[in-house]
Amino acid sequence: MIRPREVKAPGTGRPPLSLRKRLVLGSAALIALAAILIGVVSVLSLQGFLVGRLDNQLLSASSRSQGALEGRQFDSGQRPPARDFLALPGQSAGTIAGLASSSGEIVAGVLGVKGGASSLTSEQLDTLAGLDQINEPITVSLGGDLGDYRMIVSSDPVTGDSLIVGLPLSDVQATVLQLTILVAGIGVLAIAVAAIAGAIAVRFALRPLERVASTATRVSELQLDRGAVALAERVSLDDADPRTEVGQMGSALNRLLEHVASALTARQASEDKVRSFVADASHELRTPLASIRGYAELTRRGGHEIPTDVAHAIGRIEAESVRMTGLVESLLLLARLDESAPFEHRAVDVSQLLIEAVGDAAVAGPDHEWELQFPDDAVVVTGDSARLHQVVANLLANARIHTPAGTSVTASLSTEGSRAIIEVRDTGPGIAAELQAKVFERFVRGDSSRSRAAGSTGLGLAIVAAVVESLGGTSSVSSEPGNTVFRVELPTAATA
Ligand SMILES: Nc1ncnc2c1ncn2[C@@H]1O[C@H](COP(=O)(O)OP(=O)(O)O)[C@@H](O)[C@H]1O
Ligand SMILES: [Mg+2]
Repeated sequence: MIRPREVKAPGTGRPPLSLRKRLVLGSAALIALAAILIGVVSVLSLQGFLVGRLDNQLLSASSRSQGALEGRQFDSGQRPPARDFLALPGQSAGTIAGLASSSGEIVAGVLGVKGGASSLTSEQLDTLAGLDQINEPITVSLGGDLGDYRMIVSSDPVTGDSLIVGLPLSDVQATVLQLTILVAGIGVLAIAVAAIAGAIAVRFALRPLERVASTATRVSELQLDRGAVALAERVSLDDADPRTEVGQMGSALNRLLEHVASALTARQASEDKVRSFVADASHELRTPLASIRGYAELTRRGGHEIPTDVAHAIGRIEAESVRMTGLVESLLLLARLDESAPFEHRAVDVSQLLIEAVGDAAVAGPDHEWELQFPDDAVVVTGDSARLHQVVANLLANARIHTPAGTSVTASLSTEGSRAIIEVRDTGPGIAAELQAKVFERFVRGDSSRSRAAGSTGLGLAIVAAVVESLGGTSSVSSEPGNTVFRVELPTAATA
């Protein structure tokens, strides 16, 4: 069974270590490991070497003592004093020598710096008495001020007693300790230096990566979805050298941007082509449409006797040519607005415009109740008065066509700061929620047969939105049964 992978949103969970931290920590850890390894190996080998050397000295000291025992001039059965071995030439200070019988009797002493022998404590003597004859150097801890010793226990060639000889480990231990401290100190220093140098080096190495990322960020903030886009952002050539890893990324990003830029240019070119085609086609259609309408009208009014069905057909031709002329005009206007062709920018008195438009609407829709509200002061916006008139006329026509007779329609004008607000409100059945979201799009219309019959094209609100946007304003709708409000906001002349 395949389990769905858990998807985590970026930025949640434990924050990840940055690449910089990981590189610095990783290299410091490696250097620490190497330092520990080198330190342990060198300390251990030095210790081994020094102990080995001490053991050699111990063996020769032991054989010297054995030689002294063999040529003994002591009375038989009498144990020689330890001092006698210690006084042998070549024994070094700190040497311990002693004889232990199998019955547990022991004599032992330690050679002082000045050559005199001093005695051992009873615990130390006990420790020595407990040693087995193994003829090999061993480490024995004697305690007190003697510390650790290397000792060899051999047998007295004559009596079979244990001959004990020991040399102090203190010198070896001191040397090893000193080396340990030195190695640890150098190791810590090396790790610190490596971490700091590593941090600086990584910072420098990652700088080009940051520059590449910031280029990508700048591109992501550009508006690419419409209009002619000048995509001039590129990663600098220094950061796009394909011989480095970051450079590969930089040059890949540059190639991507090149690609996107040419795609955007192609997109813009094809959009321009379609727009100018629509504009040209609409323009070209105006003349033949005017002729059709003219000839139809001429025939109808010509005063000839024509059969009723032909008269009806000619009436239809005339009506449809009027409707088609409207459609073509709308298409032409939208195409020009899309091309953002410059059009007239004059001061337009919106109050005056609204009075005229509502007057026209009242004539066209005598079955509706019309109301107009506007402030005492004139409200002036900058724009093309014919197009602004069309905006208001489209909204009023919708309130008339898409609502039943008896609906009351209120057009109101107000100002909010530097914005002029035109609202057209009706008490009709309203617009379905799913239609509301896209009602300003082209060729979007409610599918009622009523609006079809009334010559619905679905371009009225698209023109409203396009004209208002070209003037720097916004248009919106809110609708529920009994209260549908279209709201247009435009900057007033003072601010525009
Ligand atoms: N005041 C309104 N009341 C109800 N529906 C409306 C109103 N205004 C617009 N509509 C709906 O929005 C659609 C789109 O309007 P519009 O773009 O002007 O196209 P058209 O009027 O040619 O159908 C209309 O078909 C209609 O269904
Ligand atoms: Mg309409």
